[in-house]
Amino acid sequence: MARSLLTELLREGAAHLAEIRSDAPQLEAEHLLAHLLRIPRARLALADDAELTPSLVAAYRELLARRSAREPLQYVLGHTPFADLDLQVGPGVLIPRPETEVLVGELLREWRGGERSGRRGSPFDLIDVGTGSGAILYALLSALPEWRGLGVDRSRAALEWARRNRPTALRERASLVAGDLLESIRLPRGSVWIVAANLPYIPRGELSNLEPEVRDHEPWLALDGGPDGLDLVRRVHPVAAELLAPGGLLALELATDQPERVARELHAGGFFPSLRIYSDWTSRPRGVIARRG
Ligand SMILES: C[S@@+](CC[C@H](N)C(=O)[O-])C[C@H]1O[C@@H](n2cnc3c(N)ncnc32)[C@H](O)[C@@H]1O
Repeated sequence: MARSLLTELLREGAAHLAEIRSDAPQLEAEHLLAHLLRIPRARLALADDAELTPSLVAAYRELLARRSAREPLQYVLGHTPFADLDLQVGPGVLIPRPETEVLVGELLREWRGGERSGRRGSPFDLIDVGTGSGAILYALLSALPEWRGLGVDRSRAALEWARRNRPTALRERASLVAGDLLESIRLPRGSVWIVAANLPYIPRGELSNLEPEVRDHEPWLALDGGPDGLDLVRRVHPVAAELLAPGGLLALELATDQPERVARELHAGGFFPSLRIYSDWTSRPRGVIARRG
C-alpha cells in the first residue's frame, strides 16, 4: 500500500514537472522526495514506507509547486554538487554549472604541466574573481593543499553564500572580500600564480530569452556581461596581468562563441604570449587559459 504511495507520489511529481517541460521530470521528482526523506536518491526504492507521512506528502507537494513555478531545482533543494564539494545555493547566488568544473580541471592540468618563475611575496597564491558560491575557489584550494586563495565578489548576498560554503578544512586558507573585480585588491605586482574568473558573459540583449529558472531567479549581476557579454572580461584581464607572476595563469570561462575573440584580444594585449582555448565535454569551446609572459 505505502509502496504504491511512493510510486504514486513520484508519478504525480513527474507529471507536474513534465508540464513545465523539465528535461528529466522523473529524476527531479525523485530528488525532491529523497531530499525530504533525507536519503540519497539511489536509496529511494528502499525507503521505509512508513516515512511517507501526511506531513511529508504535504511538504513534497509544496516543493513541487515551487519547482512548477520554475524555481531552479537546486534552489528548491538548497544545495548542489560541484567537483568534490556540496555547495549551498539559493536566491542571490548563481548555481555553479558543470562546465565550470571543466574550467577547474583544465586549469589544474595546465598548472601542473607548466613552468614559472620569480613570484614576489603575497598572502595569496590564487584569486577567484566573481566567486559567487565559492565553487572555483574551494575546488582549486582543495586540490592545491599548500595554497591560499582569495574570492572576490561585488555581491554581498553571493559572498554570504560563499561564507556558508567555506569548508572547515579551508578556513585558514580561503579568504573572501567584497569588491569590483580586482580594483580594490592591493597586492604586489607579479605576486599571484592563478587568476580564475567565471564572470557574467551573457550579452545583455539575450537575458530576456533565458529560461525562466535563470532569468527570473538567478541574480542578473551574475549573468549580465554588457552589450556583447565581454564588458567584465575586458576589464579584468589587464589588471590580472599586473598581479600574475611570470608563468602564472589567467583562466576565463566564456560562452561558446566567445573564446576565439577573447584569445585574440588577450594576445593583442601583449601580456599573455601563450594561451589555449579549452572545450567542454561536448567539444564546444568554453574558455581560455592564458599564461603570463
Ligand atoms: C557567472 S557568476 C559565477 C559564480 C561562480 N564563480 C561560479 O562559477 O559558479 C559571476 C559572479 O560574478 C559576480 N560579479 C559580477 N560583477 C562583478 C564585479 N564587477 N566585480 C566582482 N564580482 C562581480 C557576480 O555577483 C557573480 O557572483
